[in-house]
Amino acid sequence: MIELRQETSADCWEVEALYDLCFAPGREALSSYRLREGVDPVAKLSIVARDEMNILAGAIRYWPVDVSGQRVLLLGPVAVHPTHQGEGLGGSLMRHSIELARETGWKHVMLVGDEPYYHRFGFRRLTGVFMPPPTNPERVLGLELVPGCWLGVAGDVRKVDV
Ligand SMILES: CC(C)(COP(=O)(O)OP(=O)(O)OC[C@H]1O[C@@H](n2cnc3c(N)ncnc32)[C@H](O)[C@@H]1OP(=O)(O)O)[C@@H](O)C(=O)NCCC(=O)NCCS
Repeated sequence: MIELRQETSADCWEVEALYDLCFAPGREALSSYRLREGVDPVAKLSIVARDEMNILAGAIRYWPVDVSGQRVLLLGPVAVHPTHQGEGLGGSLMRHSIELARETGWKHVMLVGDEPYYHRFGFRRLTGVFMPPPTNPERVLGLELVPGCWLGVAGDVRKVDV
Protein backbone atom coordinates (compact mmCIF):
# COMPACT_ATOMS: atom_id res chain seq x y z
CA MET A 1 0.00 0.00 0.00
CA ILE A 2 1.48 3.32 -1.08
CA GLU A 3 0.63 6.46 0.87
CA LEU A 4 0.81 10.01 -0.49
CA ARG A 5 1.65 12.82 1.89
CA GLN A 6 3.08 16.31 1.89
CA GLU A 7 6.88 16.45 1.69
CA THR A 8 8.63 17.63 4.86
CA SER A 9 12.20 18.80 5.40
CA ALA A 10 13.04 15.25 6.56
CA ASP A 11 12.18 13.91 3.08
CA CYS A 12 14.30 16.39 1.16
CA TRP A 13 17.56 14.49 0.59
CA GLU A 14 15.79 11.22 -0.21
CA VAL A 15 13.73 13.08 -2.83
CA GLU A 16 16.91 14.58 -4.31
CA ALA A 17 18.48 11.08 -4.43
CA LEU A 18 15.38 9.74 -6.19
CA TYR A 19 15.58 12.51 -8.79
CA ASP A 20 19.30 11.79 -9.29
CA LEU A 21 18.44 8.14 -9.87
CA CYS A 22 15.57 8.79 -12.28
CA PHE A 23 16.98 11.64 -14.38
CA ALA A 24 20.08 11.91 -16.52
CA PRO A 25 23.22 13.32 -14.89
CA GLY A 26 23.35 17.09 -15.06
CA ARG A 27 19.60 17.53 -14.51
CA GLU A 28 20.29 20.73 -12.59
CA ALA A 29 21.72 22.32 -15.74
CA LEU A 30 18.22 22.23 -17.32
CA SER A 31 16.63 25.62 -17.94
CA SER A 32 13.77 24.89 -15.53
CA TYR A 33 16.27 24.80 -12.66
CA ARG A 34 17.27 28.44 -13.42
CA LEU A 35 13.66 29.38 -12.61
CA ARG A 36 13.77 27.49 -9.31
CA GLU A 37 17.06 28.76 -7.90
CA GLY A 38 16.52 30.60 -4.63
CA VAL A 39 12.73 30.12 -4.83
CA ASP A 40 10.91 27.80 -2.42
CA PRO A 41 8.77 25.04 -3.93
CA VAL A 42 5.03 25.23 -3.28
CA ALA A 43 4.94 23.26 -0.02
CA LYS A 44 1.30 22.13 -0.21
CA LEU A 45 1.87 20.60 -3.64
CA SER A 46 5.16 18.85 -2.88
CA ILE A 47 4.07 15.26 -2.37
CA VAL A 48 5.98 12.10 -1.52
CA ALA A 49 4.79 8.53 -2.00
CA ARG A 50 6.06 5.99 0.53
CA ASP A 51 5.46 2.25 0.67
CA GLU A 52 4.50 0.18 3.71
CA MET A 53 8.22 -0.07 4.66
CA ASN A 54 8.40 3.76 4.54
CA ILE A 55 10.66 3.58 1.47
CA LEU A 56 10.32 6.47 -0.96
CA ALA A 57 8.58 5.30 -4.14
CA GLY A 58 7.88 8.60 -5.88
CA ALA A 59 7.79 12.37 -5.53
CA ILE A 60 6.48 15.48 -7.20
CA ARG A 61 7.26 19.15 -6.65
CA TYR A 62 5.99 22.44 -8.09
CA TRP A 63 7.45 25.94 -8.25
CA PRO A 64 5.79 29.29 -8.88
CA VAL A 65 6.96 31.13 -12.02
CA ASP A 66 5.86 34.32 -13.75
CA VAL A 67 4.43 34.59 -17.28
CA SER A 68 3.52 38.15 -18.31
CA GLY A 69 2.75 39.13 -14.73
CA GLN A 70 0.64 36.04 -14.08
CA ARG A 71 1.72 33.63 -11.35
CA VAL A 72 1.81 30.14 -12.84
CA LEU A 73 2.71 26.71 -11.47
CA LEU A 74 5.73 24.98 -12.99
CA LEU A 75 5.16 21.25 -12.42
CA GLY A 76 8.17 19.07 -11.75
CA PRO A 77 10.27 17.26 -11.20
CA VAL A 78 8.05 14.19 -10.93
CA ALA A 79 9.66 10.79 -10.62
CA VAL A 80 8.79 7.24 -9.63
CA HIS A 81 11.42 4.77 -8.47
CA PRO A 82 12.20 2.24 -11.24
CA THR A 83 10.90 -0.63 -9.07
CA HIS A 84 7.46 1.03 -9.00
CA GLN A 85 7.21 2.43 -12.53
CA GLY A 86 4.22 1.34 -14.58
CA GLU A 87 2.02 0.72 -11.52
CA GLY A 88 0.04 3.94 -11.86
CA LEU A 89 1.93 5.83 -9.16
CA GLY A 90 3.06 8.62 -11.50
CA GLY A 91 -0.58 9.10 -12.47
CA SER A 92 -1.66 9.18 -8.81
CA LEU A 93 0.98 11.80 -7.94
CA MET A 94 -0.08 13.90 -10.94
CA ARG A 95 -3.84 13.73 -10.31
CA HIS A 96 -3.59 14.19 -6.53
CA SER A 97 -1.32 17.25 -6.78
CA ILE A 98 -3.30 18.80 -9.63
CA GLU A 99 -6.47 18.48 -7.56
CA LEU A 100 -4.70 20.14 -4.60
CA ALA A 101 -3.55 22.94 -6.94
CA ARG A 102 -7.13 23.48 -8.07
CA GLU A 103 -8.42 23.47 -4.47
CA THR A 104 -5.80 26.00 -3.40
CA GLY A 105 -6.79 28.44 -6.12
CA TRP A 106 -4.16 27.97 -8.80
CA LYS A 107 -5.36 28.37 -12.39
CA HIS A 108 -2.38 27.77 -14.69
CA VAL A 109 -0.03 24.79 -14.69
CA MET A 110 2.87 24.33 -17.07
CA LEU A 111 5.76 21.90 -17.47
CA VAL A 112 8.52 20.83 -19.80
CA GLY A 113 8.06 17.17 -20.68
CA ASP A 114 6.89 14.42 -22.97
CA GLU A 115 3.52 15.31 -24.50
CA PRO A 116 2.62 11.60 -25.02
CA TYR A 117 2.72 11.10 -21.24
CA TYR A 118 1.23 14.38 -20.01
CA HIS A 119 -1.59 14.53 -22.59
CA ARG A 120 -3.60 12.06 -20.45
CA PHE A 121 -3.75 14.62 -17.62
CA GLY A 122 -5.02 17.37 -19.96
CA PHE A 123 -1.72 19.04 -20.83
CA ARG A 124 -1.47 20.54 -24.32
CA ARG A 125 1.28 22.31 -26.24
CA LEU A 126 1.65 25.94 -25.09
CA THR A 127 2.49 28.09 -28.06
CA GLY A 128 3.55 31.62 -27.19
CA VAL A 129 5.02 30.72 -23.80
CA PHE A 130 8.79 30.56 -23.90
CA MET A 131 11.06 28.80 -21.42
CA PRO A 132 14.64 30.02 -21.11
CA PRO A 133 16.90 28.36 -23.70
CA PRO A 134 17.82 25.69 -24.40
CA THR A 135 14.29 24.23 -24.30
CA ASN A 136 12.54 22.35 -27.09
CA PRO A 137 9.31 24.36 -27.59
CA GLU A 138 7.41 21.17 -28.38
CA ARG A 139 7.96 20.07 -24.78
CA VAL A 140 6.42 23.20 -23.24
CA LEU A 141 2.95 22.09 -22.12
CA GLY A 142 0.12 23.74 -20.21
CA LEU A 143 -3.00 22.73 -18.29
CA GLU A 144 -6.02 24.94 -17.55
CA LEU A 145 -7.49 24.50 -14.07
CA VAL A 146 -9.99 27.20 -15.06
CA PRO A 147 -11.28 26.91 -18.64
CA GLY A 148 -9.67 29.44 -20.99
CA CYS A 149 -7.22 30.74 -18.40
CA TRP A 150 -4.17 30.48 -20.68
CA LEU A 151 -5.79 32.75 -23.30
CA GLY A 152 -3.76 35.96 -23.41
CA VAL A 153 -1.08 34.64 -21.07
CA ALA A 154 2.05 34.58 -23.23
CA GLY A 155 5.68 35.56 -23.27
CA ASP A 156 8.85 34.54 -21.50
CA VAL A 157 8.68 32.39 -18.37
CA ARG A 158 10.52 34.28 -15.63
CA LYS A 159 11.64 33.58 -12.10
CA VAL A 160 9.30 35.06 -9.48
CA ASP A 161 10.59 37.92 -7.34
CA VAL A 162 11.59 36.63 -3.93
C1 LIG B 1 7.42 9.44 -16.05
C2 LIG B 1 7.15 8.69 -14.74
C3 LIG B 1 7.02 9.71 -13.61
C4 LIG B 1 5.82 7.94 -14.89
O1 LIG B 1 5.55 7.27 -13.66
P1 LIG B 1 4.83 5.84 -13.64
O2 LIG B 1 4.41 5.55 -12.26
O3 LIG B 1 5.73 4.85 -14.30
O4 LIG B 1 3.58 6.14 -14.58
P2 LIG B 1 2.17 5.41 -14.59
O5 LIG B 1 2.31 4.03 -14.05
O6 LIG B 1 1.17 6.31 -13.94
O7 LIG B 1 1.87 5.40 -16.13
C5 LIG B 1 2.55 4.49 -16.94
C6 LIG B 1 2.20 4.82 -18.39
O8 LIG B 1 2.90 6.01 -18.77
C7 LIG B 1 3.66 5.73 -19.93
N1 LIG B 1 4.84 6.57 -19.92
C8 LIG B 1 5.77 6.68 -18.94
N2 LIG B 1 6.72 7.56 -19.31
C9 LIG B 1 6.38 8.02 -20.54
C10 LIG B 1 6.96 8.93 -21.44
N3 LIG B 1 8.09 9.58 -21.16
N4 LIG B 1 6.31 9.16 -22.62
C11 LIG B 1 5.16 8.51 -22.92
N5 LIG B 1 4.56 7.63 -22.10
C12 LIG B 1 5.17 7.39 -20.92
C13 LIG B 1 3.96 4.24 -19.83
O9 LIG B 1 4.28 3.72 -21.11
C14 LIG B 1 2.63 3.71 -19.34
O10 LIG B 1 1.71 3.68 -20.39
P3 LIG B 1 0.37 2.77 -20.36
O11 LIG B 1 -0.51 3.33 -19.27
O12 LIG B 1 -0.22 2.96 -21.72
O13 LIG B 1 0.86 1.39 -20.07
C15 LIG B 1 8.25 7.66 -14.42
O14 LIG B 1 8.36 6.77 -15.51
C16 LIG B 1 9.62 8.27 -14.15
O15 LIG B 1 9.94 8.60 -13.03
N6 LIG B 1 10.44 8.39 -15.20
C17 LIG B 1 11.79 8.95 -15.03
C18 LIG B 1 11.77 10.43 -14.71
C19 LIG B 1 10.98 11.22 -15.75
O16 LIG B 1 11.15 11.03 -16.95
N7 LIG B 1 10.10 12.12 -15.25
C20 LIG B 1 9.26 12.92 -16.08
C21 LIG B 1 9.97 14.10 -16.62
S1 LIG B 1 9.33 14.63 -18.20
